[in-house]
Amino acid sequence: MTTRRRFTLTQYLIEQRRRFPSASGDFNALLLDVALACKAIARTVAFGDLGSMLGQPAPDVTTSVNVQGEEQKKLDVISNEYFTQMTEWGGHLAGMASEEMDHPYQIPATMQRGKYMLVFDPLDGSSNIDVNVTVGSIFSVLRAPQDVIDSGRDVVEADFLQPGTEQLAAGYALYGPTTMLVLTVGNGVAGFTLDPNLGQFMLTHPNMQIPEDTHEFAINASNSRFWEAPVKRYVDECLAGKTGARGKDFNMRWIASMVAEAHRILMRGGIFMYPRDTKDAAKHGRLRLLYEANPVGMIIEQAGGRASTGREPMLTVQPTALHQRIGLVFGSKNEVERIERYHREP
Ligand code: AHG
Ligand code: MN
Ligand code: MN
Ligand code: MN
Repeated sequence: MTTRRRFTLTQYLIEQRRRFPSASGDFNALLLDVALACKAIARTVAFGDLGSMLGQPAPDVTTSVNVQGEEQKKLDVISNEYFTQMTEWGGHLAGMASEEMDHPYQIPATMQRGKYMLVFDPLDGSSNIDVNVTVGSIFSVLRAPQDVIDSGRDVVEADFLQPGTEQLAAGYALYGPTTMLVLTVGNGVAGFTLDPNLGQFMLTHPNMQIPEDTHEFAINASNSRFWEAPVKRYVDECLAGKTGARGKDFNMRWIASMVAEAHRILMRGGIFMYPRDTKDAAKHGRLRLLYEANPVGMIIEQAGGRASTGREPMLTVQPTALHQRIGLVFGSKNEVERIERYHREP
């Protein structure tokens, strides 16, 4: 039996770059730096508490609450440092923004600045770290505004407030039974599995596509008393099963690591809902637009699924703040469209 030739991430990126003959290679180099950060995080996650008690609060008690008002875990902080340290020196970035940093990160003056901006959630699913459940990292690449590129000035919050349609790349790493990297550079979605012996991400899922229908939904049901009517209607119909309006039974999942949910949905279909609810009306939702909803939204849409606020497409939302939260529904196209339809009905 001939062994199937596998592409490395590098070979895949070179293949994709052929679409842009004048490309400088900066974009690919940046993505490889991001992949290196993910490999470093994967190694740290794999050591678990053999390392430094990663699920514990970050050491410096005074700063262990991030801008989100969440207690920072050590791994949140370590992962954030890996992302900044592995990507700041390459000369491809004008600046960065992250869930774990109050303000945009400036590339040190001693380093060359570039034309891209990296936006990331360095560790998604932090509440799962100390119980050894799959966690991940999420990232998004934007082009810096031309005046930033021309002048080399520091980036400011407004530079990052670009709709999801402006993303040049989006991806996530999944630190699970295997470590994977799932990436789109705007030409479909590819999945790579880390070969720990080679230290390389090998192409294992060349063209990920989401089934348009599903029988599996994901939502934190403990929030049901806070849901808006269309979401309540949708979930009740799923729970009613084949005797109800849907005429079929549904299954439910909730992992509390959005990246893990997104991966399951990419692999076999499904719908994920963290909708806007009345639990904390001021927040308009739990998940963050720039480094959770938009990158995952780009991946899902590139794989033939749909990403929405529940009312409108996610990727056309005009951001108004760096850490803005938003209601998020994504997955199998026909199910997301059903929820949007329920929001339109009187
Ligand atoms: P993060 O760990 O980056 O703060 O994100 C966690 C998010 C998301 O991954 C997950 O779906 C959701 O929080 C879980 O929220 P609940 O704990 O309310 O279920
Ligand atoms: Mn968090
Ligand atoms: Mn997250
Ligand atoms: Mn996070």
